[in-house]
Amino acid sequence: MFSTPDRPPSSFVPPPSPPSDRASVLCGLAGWLPARAVTNEELSQRLDTSDTWIRTRTGISRRHFAEPGQATSDLAVEAGHRALRSAGTADVDAVVVATTTPDRSCPATAPLVAGRLGLTGAAAFDISAVCTGFVYGLASATSLITAGMADRVLLIGADTYSTIVDPDDRTNAIIFGDGAGAVVLRAGRADEPGAVGHFDLGSDGTGEELIMVAAGGSRQRSTPGEVDPQDRYFAMRGKEVYRHAVTRMTASARATLKLADCEVDDVDRLVPHQANLRILRSVVDDLGLPAERLVTNIDAVGNTGAASIPLALADAAAQHTIEPGERVLLTAFGGGLTWGSCLLTWPALSQTDPHDTGGTHAP
Ligand code: UT7
Repeated sequence: MFSTPDRPPSSFVPPPSPPSDRASVLCGLAGWLPARAVTNEELSQRLDTSDTWIRTRTGISRRHFAEPGQATSDLAVEAGHRALRSAGTADVDAVVVATTTPDRSCPATAPLVAGRLGLTGAAAFDISAVCTGFVYGLASATSLITAGMADRVLLIGADTYSTIVDPDDRTNAIIFGDGAGAVVLRAGRADEPGAVGHFDLGSDGTGEELIMVAAGGSRQRSTPGEVDPQDRYFAMRGKEVYRHAVTRMTASARATLKLADCEVDDVDRLVPHQANLRILRSVVDDLGLPAERLVTNIDAVGNTGAASIPLALADAAAQHTIEPGERVLLTAFGGGLTWGSCLLTWPALSQTDPHDTGGTHAP
């Protein structure tokens, strides 16, 4: 903003700002599950539980576990590759990975994933918001695009909870599964199908202790001999989390509808974080939404953390449960505590079935 004699201050031209109707538009979608499906019966053989208890208390029949040696980035690369193919592009400006189970505590997983997808040079960072990670990632990717800092972003939600859940903890071992889901967002117009609309995001850190892995961070380092081995595992106070999940997702969904000046009846599909089928049904009831508008795939995949919303979207799109033009409300709740929701109109997409795990991508 310097003036020179031949350029008076009034002639200053600000850098081009993005057009006010510039929006982030969903243009690619994919899910990917590791091949190993683990049924309730299999878990019942080594844990004091039963298929009936798990199905009636959670709605889950099976989940997928990564093989030993298979890391979150391996799942993320598979989903990311398929999402890029679905979007018909090999190039993005940024790669965002939402995860609670990064390959390592340092560095982030996203640069590694970007590199393996042939996207070296793209901005790459992780989002840590536990099961709300995908919605936080969607907000971050959307902000990059609407601010004019990126034209295309690959967002991946990927988690391998089997690597942090105590296999002998019957309460958590039955809920969580591994998987990855990814979307590609591109710059477009706010009135296009796929335009990602209003967001509600929030947190309450006073509930930190309800969901945590106590050791391994700067608070309680994993120095051999100094850490209770149990503190390296994921811990959750299930009943309290359950209550928060219902009230926070319901309130966040309502707040988003209010921002968008919409009524509950305007929502064609609700795609919540797949925490527990009873939680999802309570949210639908509390919102006053007809039960058939709930999108759920928890029966087949369990709770897959940051992967759960994009995996549910990929499943629903593959089965035509979600159709182009429908108004879709996403809502999530997770550790932190964190929550978030987002509204969008469903676009026409080409994508693959996440349950088709035959053939992996080896860049
Ligand atoms: O994704 C982020 C957010 N996460 C969530 O939203 C998950 C929220 N929480 C939940 O989904 C549920 O609280 C759980 C599925 C984790 C647990 O279900 P619950 O209905 O809340 O069970 P509970 O922990 O209150 O336990 C009830 C009973 C207990 O026995 P007693 O004390 O009544 O005799 C447990 O020991 O069920 C017992 N139990 C089991 N029994 C058979 C707990 N886990 C099992 C099991 N099999 N796997």
